[in-house]
Amino acid sequence: MSEQQPKTNPERMEKIVSLCKRRGFVFQSSEIYGGLNGCWDYGPLGVELKRNLKDYWWRVMVRERDDVVGMDGSILMNRAVWKASGHEETFTDPMVDCRVCKARLRADQLPDKEGVKYCPTCGSRDLTEARAFNLMFLTYVGATQDESSKTYLRPETAQAIFVQFKNVLEVSRKKLPFGIAQVGKAFRNEINPRNFTFRSREFEQMELEYFCAPAQGRELLEYWLQERLRFYENIGLPREKLHVHEIPAEERAFYSQGTYDIEFEFPFGIQELEGVAYRTDYDLTQHIKASGKPLDYFDEETKQRFVPHVVEPSAGVDRTALALICSAYDEETVTDEKGKSETRIVLHFHPRMAPIKVGIFPLLKNNPQLVAKAREISALLRPHMMTFYDEGGAIGRRYRRQDEVGTPFGVTVDFDTLGEKGDELKDTVTLRHRDSMKQERVAIKDLLGLILPQL
Ligand code: GAP
Repeated sequence: MSEQQPKTNPERMEKIVSLCKRRGFVFQSSEIYGGLNGCWDYGPLGVELKRNLKDYWWRVMVRERDDVVGMDGSILMNRAVWKASGHEETFTDPMVDCRVCKARLRADQLPDKEGVKYCPTCGSRDLTEARAFNLMFLTYVGATQDESSKTYLRPETAQAIFVQFKNVLEVSRKKLPFGIAQVGKAFRNEINPRNFTFRSREFEQMELEYFCAPAQGRELLEYWLQERLRFYENIGLPREKLHVHEIPAEERAFYSQGTYDIEFEFPFGIQELEGVAYRTDYDLTQHIKASGKPLDYFDEETKQRFVPHVVEPSAGVDRTALALICSAYDEETVTDEKGKSETRIVLHFHPRMAPIKVGIFPLLKNNPQLVAKAREISALLRPHMMTFYDEGGAIGRRYRRQDEVGTPFGVTVDFDTLGEKGDELKDTVTLRHRDSMKQERVAIKDLLGLILPQL
């Protein structure tokens, strides 16, 4: 955490967690059996939000670039990978036990009073000495469970990229600098999962390993920091809520020549969204040493052979999705024409990230012509975007339901659409904008052209 923390807001966080469950963004995993700590299921809206985020990341990091290709590595890998990468030896957090309530706690996250650490669960100061706890989930491959069949669920996606570096380089015929990107699950047996999905035991990462000549590393670290900040702004996180924390040399991994954390102001404090790290040639060199295979690069122009350096922007899908929800959440007091005030809960998602792009509403559900027209509009828009058809309840209620899940556009089919006020308004609808609540009359044939460029 970088600077002075702004005030935390547990009440706001509680409301966000409650909305996530109520509206189907996130459920507790295995809920009917009491849950599983640190594991979450994404419901119909959460899965759309995550997909929009991952698709946009893939679009800007892979498809729109000449210098990046993708891959999808397996979650289970040879144990030798985790020995070589250093994870088996050092991927640990310091753990202490409370001797009174038996809570297992992360030693580096304990609260203290006048310099004395205490248990956040029961308040006792009777804690054990810290010892290293390895965060990787151990598993066995095949039918025998012995030393030879041991491996781990991957704690990061990056290692698959390093060990496939040579294969990908050869098939893609890229020249340095170039990158390999991957999105996928990672698993860490966190001592204290907390802050909703923020620190989970199963989560997804979006990682790029960008390989370069040693002389380019420092400059590319700065380049990728700026690119990544631009990404977060482009998905709707306000720049003033994003913080950059440069990790001081004494806190960085010994091989790193520079690391930035990109942080976000969550209601529970300023916390890391992504690490952008200049990892030098550490990972490839480790795998060269351990496997005996050449993972180096021959530069045709300079006729030099060397082990590429790596700059790694590594982001969390779940953390970013949570940041999007926290940033979008708003409660507004709105007053209707009759002077009646009420609270409007709204998620101000960027249209690109919103799970549902447009709600489609026939004014009355018992009028077959209105319903048929609304269905027709759904069929027109559905191939291009996520739509939601809703005919139940007063129209104001239906708008509110969509506001609460962040749907940026609402299309209402009324009697004017059917031509009851003459030909001028025939085949036009009301297009309602979520944030301003302004409504405009637009032709059905213009809807796609109006909405699509904003997604
Ligand atoms: N390959 C580098 C690496 O894994 P990291 O800082 O340990 O670096 C990168 O993880 C990102 O993965 C973090 O910035 C965060 O967004 C996400 N992440 C890490 N641990 C997580 C956890 N327990 N729950 C949710 N996301 C996590």
